[in-house]
Amino acid sequence: MFTRISRPRSYAPGPSGYPLLGNLPQFQRDALGFMLRMVQQHGDVVQLKLGPETLFLLGHPEHVRAVFLDRDATFSKGGRWETLKMLLGDGMLTSEGEAWKRKRRLVEPAFHRSQLSQLTRMMSRTTEAMITAWGEHADDGQPLDVCPWMMELALEIVVRALFSGDVTSDVQTISDAFMIAQRYISRITWDPVARLRSHLPSRRRRRFEEAVAQLDAIVLRLLNERRHSEPREDLLQMILDAGHGDEDRPLSPRELRDEVLTLMIAGHETTANALAWTWHLLSTWPDAARAIRDEVRDVLGDRRDVEFEDLQKLSWTRNVIQEVMRLYPPLWFIPRSVERDTRLGGVHMPRGAMVLVSPYVLHLDPRFWDNPAGFDPSRFNERPQPYTYLPFGMGSRTCLGRNFALMEMTLIVAMVVRAFDVARVPGHPVRPMTMLTLRPRYGIRVQLSRPASP
Ligand code: HEM
Repeated sequence: MFTRISRPRSYAPGPSGYPLLGNLPQFQRDALGFMLRMVQQHGDVVQLKLGPETLFLLGHPEHVRAVFLDRDATFSKGGRWETLKMLLGDGMLTSEGEAWKRKRRLVEPAFHRSQLSQLTRMMSRTTEAMITAWGEHADDGQPLDVCPWMMELALEIVVRALFSGDVTSDVQTISDAFMIAQRYISRITWDPVARLRSHLPSRRRRRFEEAVAQLDAIVLRLLNERRHSEPREDLLQMILDAGHGDEDRPLSPRELRDEVLTLMIAGHETTANALAWTWHLLSTWPDAARAIRDEVRDVLGDRRDVEFEDLQKLSWTRNVIQEVMRLYPPLWFIPRSVERDTRLGGVHMPRGAMVLVSPYVLHLDPRFWDNPAGFDPSRFNERPQPYTYLPFGMGSRTCLGRNFALMEMTLIVAMVVRAFDVARVPGHPVRPMTMLTLRPRYGIRVQLSRPASP
């Protein structure tokens, strides 16, 4: 008698793959192009194998709604986010259930509009300092790569928002340590062999642990300094004060470490990449940059300082930023684990499988966007179709820092465009690189000059 081998019971169309590795090589070679092709060729639910894992790539707004507005916890963060826990512990980004709810409740008030408005001056001053440094490049005609500048600027802003005071000396160390940690995590997130090996001692593993220890040391020092200083008016103070006097417990020292590190990391890398892509697109489309400059002149006149209320009026600038994040969503994939057998798009998905929502794939789908590959900020004069635009995610786990990021990016873009013409450096290659965030692989080199009429 032959024993019949029972095949797994889920089955969406999908590409063939390599033995053992499945579709991992195609994914690693060009994740963005691969995902786009798969949805075009196989439809809205595509079944992929990444090594031993089954993954369902989802391409329809209805699926986005089902996953993010999931009322009965069918989907969890689980799976892929586990690797990020090695760095962020149980911070808000990586935790689940009641633990997550409590943290979100405690930290969210620090991000309310009234709190954010108080950060305008700090953001403005920090940007002004960078503009002064950029002036030298404009004057001596040397091109520059905007990526490290944006990383430093976004990091400095989020660290200052959290801790106030002078944190300049820590910014470079945080940035370097995070880069090492991110490379390691991004590798083991997508490569199951690397993930297995990560349990063994290795040079990479040691460097990762050293980077995490450095980040820990800085955060713990800053928290300690605060314990011995007067209360301040910053986000950390709001978080420290939260949970006293009502039924919530305040965050413990360990929880504070995880939350502060989460905010620092989640709050700079994404923003910095969105800004870097902004300079790429504005240097390619100078008319869009000129329209920003006109708008800034109309709203600010001769005033130097940008006020919070001004930012609400810079609607074209905001459209540009939205369009940049459509074409280059900083978080290009949002994974979820299937917690119990379910059906989506007519496909059975077993517990333990992974679903992948890719803002990139949705943002470039011609069914939902006219001329999806084209740069057209005016498309954001109207609201996108529901669940087709998700740079900040959706539902209860939507980005906590959305308004912070939009405010910060609007301010930076307005101030820089007012100060400089930003032109492309001809011949410099521009390609996306899929790490945890979508980065420009070769940086974004631009030539700065002073505008003829500021
Ligand atoms: C352009 C900038 C940003 C983008 C594109 C972005 C994107 C996202 C996305 C897509 C998520 C949802 C992930 C998921 O559902 O699994 C998220 C979550 C989160 N983001 Fe952002 N983010 C940005 C800036 C920021 C900033 C500035 C902060 C804080 C200062 C921040 C803090 C967070 C936190 C704490 C979460 C977790 C929320 C939760 O799970 O309750 N982000 N972000």
